[in-house]
Amino acid sequence: MTTTRPGEVTPDAVTHDGAPTEESAAVSRRPQPTHARQIAQEPTAVMECIGVDVRYGDFLAVSDVSLPFGLNEITALIGPSGCGKSTLLRSLNRMNDLVDGARVSGSVHFWGQDLYAPGVDPIEVRRRIGMVFQKPNPFPKSIYDNIAYGPRVTGMAVDSMDDLVENALRRAALWDEVKDKLKQSAYGLSGGQQQRLCIARTIAVEPDVILMDEPCSSLDPIATLRIEQLMAELRDLYTIVIVTHNMQQAARVADRTAFFTAAVDETTGSRTGLLVEFDLTSKIFEDPADRRTEDYITGRFG
Ligand SMILES: Nc1ncnc2c1ncn2[C@@H]1O[C@H](COP(=O)(O)OP(=O)(O)OP(=O)(O)O)[C@@H](O)[C@H]1O
Ligand SMILES: [Mg+2]
Repeated sequence: MTTTRPGEVTPDAVTHDGAPTEESAAVSRRPQPTHARQIAQEPTAVMECIGVDVRYGDFLAVSDVSLPFGLNEITALIGPSGCGKSTLLRSLNRMNDLVDGARVSGSVHFWGQDLYAPGVDPIEVRRRIGMVFQKPNPFPKSIYDNIAYGPRVTGMAVDSMDDLVENALRRAALWDEVKDKLKQSAYGLSGGQQQRLCIARTIAVEPDVILMDEPCSSLDPIATLRIEQLMAELRDLYTIVIVTHNMQQAARVADRTAFFTAAVDETTGSRTGLLVEFDLTSKIFEDPADRRTEDYITGRFG
Protein backbone atom coordinates (compact mmCIF):
# COMPACT_ATOMS: atom_id res chain seq x y z
CA MET A 1 0.00 0.00 0.00
CA THR A 2 1.19 3.50 -0.78
CA THR A 3 1.98 5.56 2.31
CA THR A 4 -0.33 8.50 2.71
CA ARG A 5 -1.10 10.96 5.39
CA PRO A 6 -4.42 10.20 7.10
CA GLY A 7 -7.24 10.87 4.71
CA GLU A 8 -4.97 11.70 1.79
CA VAL A 9 -6.02 10.08 -1.43
CA THR A 10 -3.60 8.98 -4.10
CA PRO A 11 -4.65 8.13 -7.64
CA ASP A 12 -4.59 4.43 -6.84
CA ALA A 13 -6.64 4.91 -3.70
CA VAL A 14 -9.78 6.14 -5.43
CA THR A 15 -12.27 4.26 -7.54
CA HIS A 16 -13.10 5.27 -11.10
CA ASP A 17 -15.71 7.80 -9.95
CA GLY A 18 -13.28 9.38 -7.51
CA ALA A 19 -14.73 7.71 -4.40
CA PRO A 20 -12.24 6.34 -1.87
CA THR A 21 -11.62 2.60 -2.05
CA GLU A 22 -12.33 0.51 1.05
CA GLU A 23 -8.61 0.55 1.79
CA SER A 24 -8.33 4.33 1.75
CA ALA A 25 -11.64 4.70 3.60
CA ALA A 26 -10.18 2.57 6.36
CA VAL A 27 -7.27 5.02 6.73
CA SER A 28 -9.71 7.65 7.87
CA ARG A 29 -13.39 8.29 7.43
CA ARG A 30 -12.76 11.97 7.84
CA PRO A 31 -11.28 13.79 4.83
CA GLN A 32 -8.27 15.83 5.84
CA PRO A 33 -7.87 19.31 4.36
CA THR A 34 -4.51 19.04 2.64
CA HIS A 35 -3.82 22.46 1.22
CA ALA A 36 -2.79 24.70 4.05
CA ARG A 37 -3.32 28.08 2.47
CA GLN A 38 -3.59 31.02 4.80
CA ILE A 39 -6.69 33.03 4.01
CA ALA A 40 -8.66 35.67 5.84
CA GLN A 41 -11.27 34.51 8.31
CA GLU A 42 -13.92 36.42 6.35
CA PRO A 43 -14.02 36.30 2.54
CA THR A 44 -13.87 39.38 0.32
CA ALA A 45 -17.07 38.62 -1.52
CA VAL A 46 -17.07 38.80 -5.32
CA MET A 47 -20.49 37.25 -5.29
CA GLU A 48 -23.03 36.87 -2.57
CA CYS A 49 -26.37 35.10 -2.27
CA ILE A 50 -28.75 36.93 0.02
CA GLY A 51 -31.88 35.06 1.07
CA VAL A 52 -32.02 33.06 -2.17
CA ASP A 53 -35.01 30.77 -2.76
CA VAL A 54 -35.31 28.73 -5.93
CA ARG A 55 -38.60 27.16 -7.02
CA TYR A 56 -39.55 24.84 -9.83
CA GLY A 57 -43.21 25.71 -10.29
CA ASP A 58 -44.69 25.43 -6.77
CA PHE A 59 -41.86 23.24 -5.48
CA LEU A 60 -39.40 25.04 -3.23
CA ALA A 61 -36.08 23.38 -4.12
CA VAL A 62 -33.72 25.73 -2.24
CA SER A 63 -34.69 27.95 0.67
CA ASP A 64 -33.18 31.10 2.09
CA VAL A 65 -29.52 30.67 1.21
CA SER A 66 -27.16 33.49 2.18
CA LEU A 67 -23.58 32.80 1.21
CA PRO A 68 -20.55 34.86 0.12
CA PHE A 69 -18.00 33.68 -2.47
CA GLY A 70 -14.51 34.98 -1.77
CA LEU A 71 -12.27 36.68 -4.33
CA ASN A 72 -9.57 34.32 -5.66
CA GLU A 73 -10.83 31.54 -3.50
CA ILE A 74 -12.29 28.13 -4.24
CA THR A 75 -15.61 27.51 -2.52
CA ALA A 76 -16.99 23.96 -2.46
CA LEU A 77 -20.72 23.23 -2.24
CA ILE A 78 -21.30 19.78 -0.74
CA GLY A 79 -24.29 17.80 0.45
CA PRO A 80 -26.45 14.79 -0.36
CA SER A 81 -28.06 14.26 -3.73
CA GLY A 82 -31.12 16.41 -4.29
CA CYS A 83 -30.28 19.09 -1.71
CA GLY A 84 -30.15 21.75 -4.43
CA LYS A 85 -26.43 22.27 -5.10
CA SER A 86 -26.82 22.40 -8.89
CA THR A 87 -29.96 24.48 -8.55
CA LEU A 88 -28.13 27.04 -6.41
CA LEU A 89 -25.08 27.01 -8.69
CA ARG A 90 -27.27 27.73 -11.73
CA SER A 91 -28.81 30.67 -9.89
CA LEU A 92 -25.35 32.27 -9.64
CA ASN A 93 -25.13 32.97 -13.38
CA ARG A 94 -28.83 33.03 -14.31
CA MET A 95 -28.60 29.65 -15.95
CA ASN A 96 -31.93 28.84 -14.24
CA ASP A 97 -33.51 31.38 -16.60
CA LEU A 98 -33.14 28.63 -19.22
CA VAL A 99 -34.82 25.94 -17.08
CA ASP A 100 -38.59 25.55 -17.49
CA GLY A 101 -40.53 26.66 -14.42
CA ALA A 102 -37.45 27.73 -12.43
CA ARG A 103 -37.83 30.93 -10.44
CA VAL A 104 -35.22 32.61 -8.25
CA SER A 105 -36.08 35.07 -5.49
CA GLY A 106 -33.87 36.95 -3.07
CA SER A 107 -30.70 38.52 -4.46
CA VAL A 108 -27.45 37.38 -6.00
CA HIS A 109 -24.92 40.18 -5.86
CA PHE A 110 -21.91 40.32 -8.17
CA TRP A 111 -19.53 43.06 -7.17
CA GLY A 112 -22.48 44.53 -5.27
CA GLN A 113 -24.87 44.55 -8.23
CA ASP A 114 -28.02 42.41 -8.14
CA LEU A 115 -27.83 40.00 -11.09
CA TYR A 116 -31.61 39.70 -11.09
CA ALA A 117 -32.29 43.45 -11.21
CA PRO A 118 -34.27 44.74 -14.21
CA GLY A 119 -32.04 45.59 -17.16
CA VAL A 120 -29.26 43.12 -16.35
CA ASP A 121 -28.32 41.17 -19.48
CA PRO A 122 -28.20 37.43 -18.68
CA ILE A 123 -25.82 36.77 -21.60
CA GLU A 124 -23.30 39.22 -20.16
CA VAL A 125 -23.84 37.65 -16.72
CA ARG A 126 -22.91 34.23 -18.16
CA ARG A 127 -19.81 35.68 -19.81
CA ARG A 128 -18.56 37.16 -16.53
CA ILE A 129 -19.62 34.08 -14.56
CA GLY A 130 -18.81 31.03 -16.67
CA MET A 131 -19.83 27.43 -16.09
CA VAL A 132 -18.18 24.06 -16.56
CA PHE A 133 -20.51 21.06 -16.49
CA GLN A 134 -20.38 17.54 -15.13
CA LYS A 135 -19.82 15.92 -18.49
CA PRO A 136 -17.33 17.57 -20.84
CA ASN A 137 -19.43 19.17 -23.57
CA PRO A 138 -17.14 20.44 -26.34
CA PHE A 139 -18.83 21.77 -29.46
CA PRO A 140 -18.62 19.57 -32.58
CA LYS A 141 -15.87 21.82 -33.90
CA SER A 142 -12.11 21.94 -33.97
CA ILE A 143 -10.12 22.52 -30.79
CA TYR A 144 -9.29 26.01 -32.07
CA ASP A 145 -12.89 26.87 -32.89
CA ASN A 146 -14.12 25.67 -29.51
CA ILE A 147 -12.00 28.37 -27.90
CA ALA A 148 -12.59 31.05 -30.54
CA TYR A 149 -16.38 30.55 -30.51
CA GLY A 150 -17.14 32.58 -27.35
CA PRO A 151 -14.98 35.60 -28.22
CA ARG A 152 -16.49 35.63 -31.73
CA VAL A 153 -20.16 35.43 -30.73
CA THR A 154 -19.79 37.92 -27.90
CA GLY A 155 -18.01 40.32 -30.26
CA MET A 156 -14.94 40.64 -28.04
CA ALA A 157 -12.27 43.02 -29.35
CA VAL A 158 -9.42 40.63 -30.11
CA ASP A 159 -6.03 41.64 -31.54
CA SER A 160 -4.96 38.14 -32.43
CA MET A 161 -7.33 35.19 -32.15
CA ASP A 162 -4.33 32.84 -32.39
CA ASP A 163 -2.83 34.42 -29.27
CA LEU A 164 -6.13 34.34 -27.45
CA VAL A 165 -6.58 30.62 -28.24
CA GLU A 166 -3.03 29.84 -27.16
CA ASN A 167 -3.37 31.79 -23.90
CA ALA A 168 -6.64 30.12 -22.97
CA LEU A 169 -5.20 26.67 -23.71
CA ARG A 170 -2.05 27.46 -21.73
CA ARG A 171 -4.07 28.64 -18.75
CA ALA A 172 -6.08 25.43 -18.88
CA ALA A 173 -2.81 23.44 -18.97
CA LEU A 174 -3.72 21.89 -22.31
CA TRP A 175 -1.55 23.77 -24.82
CA ASP A 176 1.37 21.34 -24.93
CA GLU A 177 -0.96 18.43 -25.58
CA VAL A 178 -2.92 20.04 -28.42
CA LYS A 179 -0.69 22.68 -30.05
CA ASP A 180 0.01 20.44 -33.05
CA LYS A 181 -3.61 19.51 -33.69
CA LEU A 182 -5.60 22.69 -33.18
CA LYS A 183 -7.62 22.11 -36.34
CA GLN A 184 -8.64 18.60 -35.34
CA SER A 185 -12.04 17.82 -33.82
CA ALA A 186 -12.37 18.34 -30.08
CA TYR A 187 -14.12 14.97 -29.98
CA GLY A 188 -10.75 13.31 -30.60
CA LEU A 189 -9.51 14.37 -27.15
CA SER A 190 -9.71 12.20 -24.03
CA GLY A 191 -12.39 12.97 -21.42
CA GLY A 192 -9.91 14.75 -19.16
CA GLN A 193 -8.54 16.78 -22.09
CA GLN A 194 -12.09 17.63 -23.18
CA GLN A 195 -12.86 18.91 -19.69
CA ARG A 196 -9.72 21.09 -19.74
CA LEU A 197 -10.81 22.30 -23.18
CA CYS A 198 -14.17 23.28 -21.68
CA ILE A 199 -12.32 25.15 -18.95
CA ALA A 200 -10.20 26.88 -21.64
CA ARG A 201 -13.40 27.75 -23.52
CA THR A 202 -14.81 29.32 -20.35
CA ILE A 203 -11.59 31.25 -19.72
CA ALA A 204 -11.47 32.54 -23.31
CA VAL A 205 -14.25 35.05 -22.70
CA GLU A 206 -12.42 36.46 -19.66
CA PRO A 207 -14.80 35.65 -16.85
CA ASP A 208 -14.33 36.71 -13.22
CA VAL A 209 -15.94 33.61 -11.77
CA ILE A 210 -15.93 29.96 -12.89
CA LEU A 211 -18.75 27.71 -11.66
CA MET A 212 -18.05 23.98 -11.83
CA ASP A 213 -20.75 21.35 -11.33
CA GLU A 214 -19.03 18.05 -10.46
CA PRO A 215 -16.40 18.67 -13.14
CA CYS A 216 -14.49 15.46 -12.41
CA SER A 217 -17.34 13.01 -11.99
CA SER A 218 -16.81 11.46 -15.43
CA LEU A 219 -13.00 11.47 -15.22
CA ASP A 220 -10.50 8.89 -14.03
CA PRO A 221 -8.38 9.57 -10.92
CA ILE A 222 -5.38 10.88 -12.87
CA ALA A 223 -7.46 13.31 -14.94
CA THR A 224 -9.25 14.29 -11.73
CA LEU A 225 -5.98 15.22 -10.03
CA ARG A 226 -4.95 17.16 -13.14
CA ILE A 227 -8.13 19.24 -12.97
CA GLU A 228 -7.61 19.79 -9.25
CA GLN A 229 -4.06 21.07 -9.87
CA LEU A 230 -5.45 23.31 -12.57
CA MET A 231 -8.06 24.71 -10.21
CA ALA A 232 -5.35 25.57 -7.70
CA GLU A 233 -3.48 27.45 -10.47
CA LEU A 234 -6.58 29.21 -11.74
CA ARG A 235 -7.58 30.39 -8.29
CA ASP A 236 -5.01 33.19 -8.50
CA LEU A 237 -6.83 34.62 -11.52
CA TYR A 238 -10.45 33.68 -10.97
CA THR A 239 -12.94 32.96 -8.26
CA ILE A 240 -14.11 29.34 -8.38
CA VAL A 241 -17.24 27.68 -7.04
CA ILE A 242 -17.30 23.89 -7.28
CA VAL A 243 -20.04 21.38 -6.55
CA THR A 244 -18.59 18.02 -5.65
CA HIS A 245 -19.73 14.71 -4.17
CA ASN A 246 -16.14 13.79 -3.53
CA MET A 247 -15.37 14.79 0.05
CA GLN A 248 -11.65 14.22 -0.44
CA GLN A 249 -11.75 16.57 -3.40
CA ALA A 250 -13.47 19.30 -1.40
CA ALA A 251 -10.92 18.82 1.38
CA ARG A 252 -8.04 18.98 -1.12
CA VAL A 253 -9.02 21.97 -3.21
CA ALA A 254 -11.47 24.24 -1.43
CA ASP A 255 -10.62 27.22 0.75
CA ARG A 256 -14.14 27.35 2.11
CA THR A 257 -16.91 24.80 2.11
CA ALA A 258 -20.68 25.12 2.34
CA PHE A 259 -22.66 22.08 3.49
CA PHE A 260 -26.27 21.73 2.37
CA THR A 261 -28.94 19.25 3.30
CA ALA A 262 -32.55 18.65 2.35
CA ALA A 263 -35.23 19.16 5.01
CA VAL A 264 -38.33 17.03 4.57
CA ASP A 265 -41.74 18.66 5.02
CA GLU A 266 -43.66 16.21 7.25
CA THR A 267 -47.01 17.06 5.65
CA THR A 268 -46.15 17.06 1.97
CA GLY A 269 -43.03 14.88 2.03
CA SER A 270 -41.26 17.36 -0.26
CA ARG A 271 -37.57 18.07 0.29
CA THR A 272 -36.17 21.56 0.39
CA GLY A 273 -32.46 22.34 0.23
CA LEU A 274 -30.98 24.36 3.09
CA LEU A 275 -27.54 25.68 3.88
CA VAL A 276 -26.46 24.04 7.14
CA GLU A 277 -22.99 25.45 7.61
CA PHE A 278 -20.38 27.52 5.80
CA ASP A 279 -16.83 27.97 6.99
CA LEU A 280 -13.15 27.51 6.22
CA THR A 281 -12.69 24.02 4.74
CA SER A 282 -10.37 23.07 7.60
CA LYS A 283 -13.09 23.93 10.10
CA ILE A 284 -15.83 22.08 8.21
CA PHE A 285 -13.78 18.90 7.96
CA GLU A 286 -12.01 18.97 11.31
CA ASP A 287 -14.49 20.57 13.67
CA PRO A 288 -17.90 21.23 12.10
CA ALA A 289 -20.38 23.16 14.20
CA ASP A 290 -23.43 21.13 13.17
CA ARG A 291 -24.04 17.44 13.81
CA ARG A 292 -25.52 17.01 10.32
CA THR A 293 -22.25 18.18 8.77
CA GLU A 294 -20.26 15.80 10.96
CA ASP A 295 -22.51 12.88 9.98
CA TYR A 296 -22.21 13.66 6.30
CA ILE A 297 -18.47 14.15 6.07
CA THR A 298 -17.77 11.02 8.07
CA GLY A 299 -20.07 9.01 5.82
CA ARG A 300 -22.82 8.31 8.35
CA PHE A 301 -25.44 10.02 6.22
CA GLY A 302 -26.11 10.81 2.58
N1 LIG B 1 -35.60 21.22 -13.96
C1 LIG B 1 -36.17 20.82 -12.82
N2 LIG B 1 -37.51 20.78 -12.69
C2 LIG B 1 -38.09 20.40 -11.52
N3 LIG B 1 -37.42 20.03 -10.42
C3 LIG B 1 -36.08 20.05 -10.50
C4 LIG B 1 -35.38 20.44 -11.69
N4 LIG B 1 -34.05 20.35 -11.46
C5 LIG B 1 -33.91 19.93 -10.19
N5 LIG B 1 -35.14 19.74 -9.61
C6 LIG B 1 -35.40 19.28 -8.23
O1 LIG B 1 -34.78 20.21 -7.34
C7 LIG B 1 -34.18 19.52 -6.25
C8 LIG B 1 -32.70 19.88 -6.20
O2 LIG B 1 -32.08 19.31 -7.37
P1 LIG B 1 -30.56 19.57 -7.74
O3 LIG B 1 -30.32 18.92 -9.04
O4 LIG B 1 -30.26 21.01 -7.61
O5 LIG B 1 -29.83 18.79 -6.55
P2 LIG B 1 -28.30 18.44 -6.37
O6 LIG B 1 -27.97 18.75 -4.94
O7 LIG B 1 -27.49 19.08 -7.43
O8 LIG B 1 -28.31 16.85 -6.56
P3 LIG B 1 -27.15 15.91 -7.16
O9 LIG B 1 -26.11 15.85 -6.08
O10 LIG B 1 -27.86 14.59 -7.34
O11 LIG B 1 -26.66 16.50 -8.44
C9 LIG B 1 -34.46 18.05 -6.46
O12 LIG B 1 -35.60 17.70 -5.73
C10 LIG B 1 -34.74 17.96 -7.95
O13 LIG B 1 -35.62 16.89 -8.24
MG1 LIG C 1 -26.30 18.34 -9.00
